[in-house]
Amino acid sequence: MKKIFTRLSQVKNIGLKRSILKGYSLLYDRYYDIKYGYDTYSWVPVDKLDVKNSQKEHAVIYQATRVISLRRLFKKLSIPKYHSFIDIGCGKGRVLLVAAEYGFEKVKGIEFSPNLTEIANKNISKYKAQHNSNSFFDVINIDAADYKFSNIDNVFFLYNPFDEVILEKVLDNICESLKGNNRRVWMIYANAIHRELVEKTMKIVSAEEFNILEFDFVVYQVELLSAE
Ligand SMILES: C[S@@+](CC[C@H](N)C(=O)[O-])C[C@H]1O[C@@H](n2cnc3c(N)ncnc32)[C@H](O)[C@@H]1O
Repeated sequence: MKKIFTRLSQVKNIGLKRSILKGYSLLYDRYYDIKYGYDTYSWVPVDKLDVKNSQKEHAVIYQATRVISLRRLFKKLSIPKYHSFIDIGCGKGRVLLVAAEYGFEKVKGIEFSPNLTEIANKNISKYKAQHNSNSFFDVINIDAADYKFSNIDNVFFLYNPFDEVILEKVLDNICESLKGNNRRVWMIYANAIHRELVEKTMKIVSAEEFNILEFDFVVYQVELLSAE
């Protein structure tokens, strides 16, 4: 009963139409897992992540980006498919599957939890068995703070995976890769809680905001702040 009242008050707060849209996209996410036999839907709280306590301090819960919202975003952006796509904090790999479905040729994920990395790889194996995909997948089990980006990584995706301490290190590492090959890259930041840090660290060439079925993205095109 308490649950029903909580749901009703949520509906009242965010409005009926928005609640229906949100409910629809969440239901679709369930359907997506059932249809293909994936495991991407269920959340994993930070205390259940198989990483060191010092790493948990900066992390957020595993929760996946919504399939329909991401599909629609990719359609709107029309990013060239030859770009290398990388999800920083990829969890169970749902974003990687949708990126491959869009057609990115190289799809990379970084995830510090060994369990989630293993689940992502299982989901990818199922995807490959069911789709005639040309995408090359690579899931790397490493703390994002320690990952040195390649100087051909061009599309960076983040769904609010960690706090400012780790984000600062990750942004520094992206800048290092830009120094090696100064280029304009895309940064897709979902639920962009620390966007001011991105905006002060990088030169923002463009920034667009999207709310797609009640899921928020900021999409930047960025360069090095100054040619050092
Ligand atoms: C909100 S989930 C997003 C998952 C996925 N990107 C998506 O959108 O479906 C954040 C993910 O980042 C991972 N994560 C948190 N801190 C990390 C770190 N320092 N290095 C690598 N992965 C991290 C978590 O384990 C979790 O899987």
